[in-house]
This record gives sequence, C-alpha cells and structure tokens, in this order.
Amino acid sequence: MRIVMVGAGYVGLVSGACLSEFGHEVVCVDCDPGRIAALKEGRIPIYEPGLQQIVQANGAAGRLSFSTDLSGAVREAEAVFIAVGTPPRHGDGHADLTYVYQAARDIAEGLNGYTVVVTKSTVPVGTARAVQAVIRQARPDADFDIASNPEFLREGSAIEDFRRPDRVVVGCESERAREVMREIYRPLFINETPMLFTGRESAELIKYAANAFLATKITFINEMADLCEQVGADIKDVARGMGLDKRIGGKFLHAGPGFGGSCFPKDTLALLKTSQDHGAPSRIVDAVVSVNDARKRAMARKIAAAFGGDLNGKTVALLGLTFKPNTDDMRDAPSLTIVPALQALGATVRAFDPEGMAQARKLMDIETCEDAYETMQGADGLVLLTEWNQFRALNLVRVGQLLRQKLIVDLRNIYAPAQMQSYGFRYVSIGRAAVQPPSTLAVAAE
Ligand SMILES: NC(=O)c1ccc[n+]([C@@H]2O[C@H](COP(=O)([O-])OP(=O)(O)OC[C@H]3O[C@@H](n4cnc5c(N)ncnc54)[C@H](O)[C@@H]3O)[C@@H](O)[C@H]2O)c1
Repeated sequence: MRIVMVGAGYVGLVSGACLSEFGHEVVCVDCDPGRIAALKEGRIPIYEPGLQQIVQANGAAGRLSFSTDLSGAVREAEAVFIAVGTPPRHGDGHADLTYVYQAARDIAEGLNGYTVVVTKSTVPVGTARAVQAVIRQARPDADFDIASNPEFLREGSAIEDFRRPDRVVVGCESERAREVMREIYRPLFINETPMLFTGRESAELIKYAANAFLATKITFINEMADLCEQVGADIKDVARGMGLDKRIGGKFLHAGPGFGGSCFPKDTLALLKTSQDHGAPSRIVDAVVSVNDARKRAMARKIAAAFGGDLNGKTVALLGLTFKPNTDDMRDAPSLTIVPALQALGATVRAFDPEGMAQARKLMDIETCEDAYETMQGADGLVLLTEWNQFRALNLVRVGQLLRQKLIVDLRNIYAPAQMQSYGFRYVSIGRAAVQPPSTLAVAAE
C-alpha cells in the first residue's frame, strides 16, 4: 500500500520506517527542509536504537523515501498518517493543534481518489471530527475517511514496540476505512496482535486514559517512596510485593525523580483540560500533575540536603540528562527543573549524558563533560539522574578516588545500598534509608 507519513519526528520516522519494513511504500514528509535533507543523505536526526539500520535498509530497497512536498506525496497515497507534534498550548495546557490543522489543509490539497487520513498524533477527543471538517471545507469534492490510530510506542524501544505492540487501536466509522487499516497492519496478525476497532472518540480517549493511568502509577509509587523513607521501609521491596499481584503488575512501579518526557506531562495536562471543558473534571489526574511537579523541585532539595544543606561553592557531578535512557529527547526531562534549581542554590553542575548533551546545552546553561568520570574529578558528590546502562556498573573504586567526598545520590535506585556501603560511600537513594559507610569498611575497600 502507498502510505504518506506526515511528520518525520520520533513517532513519524519510526512508524514510517516500520511500515515500509512491513512491505508498504512509504513517503515520510516533514515541513523542516533540514530534517528531510539530512534523511535523504542517510543521517538520522534523532537518537533511537536500531532506527538507522531500518531506515537505510528500506531506503535501499526503494520502499522508504523522504520529501517536503506534502500535497504531491498525498496525490499518490491510499493512506496518510498525521504524526506531527501536539505540544501543550501556552497558558491552558490544551494540546496545540496548529500543526495538525496545517497538515490537514496541506493534505486536502493533494487528495486524489479514495484516501484514509489517519490521526496518529496524540490529539484530544473530537479532533478526528474537526480534521474531517477542515478537509471537507477545503475539498468538498474529495473522497476520504478519517481514522484515529493513536501510537503507544516508547522512545528508546520504539522499533520493537511498533513491531510488537500490545494492541493496535483504530477508531473509524466506515467499513471501507476499516479495511484499509486492517490491510496496513496485516503483517502484525502473524504475532496475533489484538486490533481493537472503536469509534473515533473512544480511540482518542484511550491514548490519554492510558498515559494518565501510567503517570498515576508512577506518581503513586513515588508517594509510597516518600512514606518508606519516613517509616523505615524499602520501596524496592514494597513495589515488588505490589507488582507480583497480577492485578497490579510490576511495570511503572519504579520510584524516581518524577515523570517527564514528551508525552506524560503534556498528555496529563491536555486530559485535564478536556475533562474540565466537558464538565467531568478528573481530580485524580489533577493531583498527579501537581504532585509530580512538586516532586521535581523536591529532588533538588533532597540533593542539597545530601550535600550538607549548603550548595554554595560546591560542585555536583551529574549523570544523565534525558528524561529516560536510550533517547536524546530532553522534552520535560526532570533535569530541566533539577539542574537550574541546584544552580540557584549555588552549585556548579558538571554533567554527562550519552546522547542528550547537545539538546541539553540548548536548553540550559550547563557544563558538560566528555564522559562519566570527567564529571566527578574534584566534585563534592555524584548524582545519578537517568539510568543509562553505562551508569549501572561504574568503577566504584575510581568514583571514590575522583570525588572529593564519597557521596552518591541515586535518584533511580540503580545501586544496592549494601554495595555502596562496602565501597565506603554515603549513599542516598529513593524510598530507602540512606547508608553511611562504617569507616573501617571504607578503608578496607580502598
Ligand atoms: N515521542 C513519543 O514517544 C510519542 C509516543 C506516542 C505518541 N506521540 C505523539 O505523536 C505526535 C508526534 O510526536 P513526536 O515526538 O514524533 O514529535 P516530533 O516533534 O519529534 O516530530 C514532529 C515532526 O512533525 C513535523 N511537522 C510539524 N508540522 C508539520 C506539517 N504541517 N507538515 C509536515 N511536517 C510537520 C515537525 O517538523 C517534526 O519533525 C505527538 O502528538 C505525540 O504526543 C509521541
């Protein structure tokens, strides 16, 4: 099938590349000429493991191409996916649909023969209907349907998620559109992927409800972590004990510095706005948003306390800037709140991130280093903020030699307190008692 993917970002590029791998002919269109020029030269504008290989392979096979000419590409297509950004609108948190409607107008120009236009961007309830009206107004003659097909992939494992999704959700209102969508995802039938057909409003709401639920799970375990610290419990044990209950499940029960990223913060805000606008306010989501915002600020205070309360003149070595590992995405990363807060308290922050430093330098005034160990040279302590694999097995003897004080604040709980203690560190983590090094052990470890 001939498919156009509008928007060659984290979702559009991965989805387009994976659909071409299924055997479809895909043109990825973006309004950013620099992005398209880079893709045509084989350069991938984002970091996503495995993406380069499938873009290259399917480009070479002639199934995947790139263009800035949207209406030209649409002329040849049977299905057109809208995968442009839907950032929060300034002021009220509602999803900004400017890019979606611009894409809809450009698509309308090119429509030629029966075409299914699919909203893959995360868009508020009612957007598919509104996109239909925009296109109908521009092209009263056009033969098209609108389907909603929200995307659930996760950055960092996006390709595997697209190839093996838990489910594919499609909202549409005609059998003709349903047939086209079935044909597009037919290769997934081999893995027996459930394909859920719903109305468009339900499909749109499923995406927000799923993200808000996951954000709630994270926020719940974060609050339990605070309680653990007060009562002498260990959040890792509590989360495991909860997660083994099949009704709860162990995923998204990792306590940390608060959720961030390109989806949860904006999608919870947008859901709040939708629920208020429709007279069905969600007090749970409201609490999740404010608890999470407060948590990121509290993390800076937790770090300051671990460093002795006064950060003036102190240097903090910080590992991990992106909102999670295996991505270069800095959107709403906790580091964007925590680093400026530490600086405001007088600290110098020296950071390293395997993929996020170029983006981070654009967003904050921060000293970046060439590798993890360089951040630690003469620093007053180390903060672990994002759990990249390469930070999970640091050479702890070397860490201890480089730092001026043997202090580690681990906001992802990637180390075991007993191990830290045996290496002579004072170790502060989330939802577990801080450990102090018995001085004899500290000497023995060195
Ligand atoms: N990033 C994720 O993990 C993820 C996961 C699921 C869903 N989503 C949703 O998918 C959508 C896209 O997110 P993203 O992270 O890929 O965004 P992104 O910012 O990485 O990519 C969007 C791309 O669209 C392009 N664009 C904007 N307007 C255009 C137009 N009129 N014509 C052509 N191109 C246009 C931009 O230049 C940009 O390259 C959002 O609604 C998001 O909420 C994202």
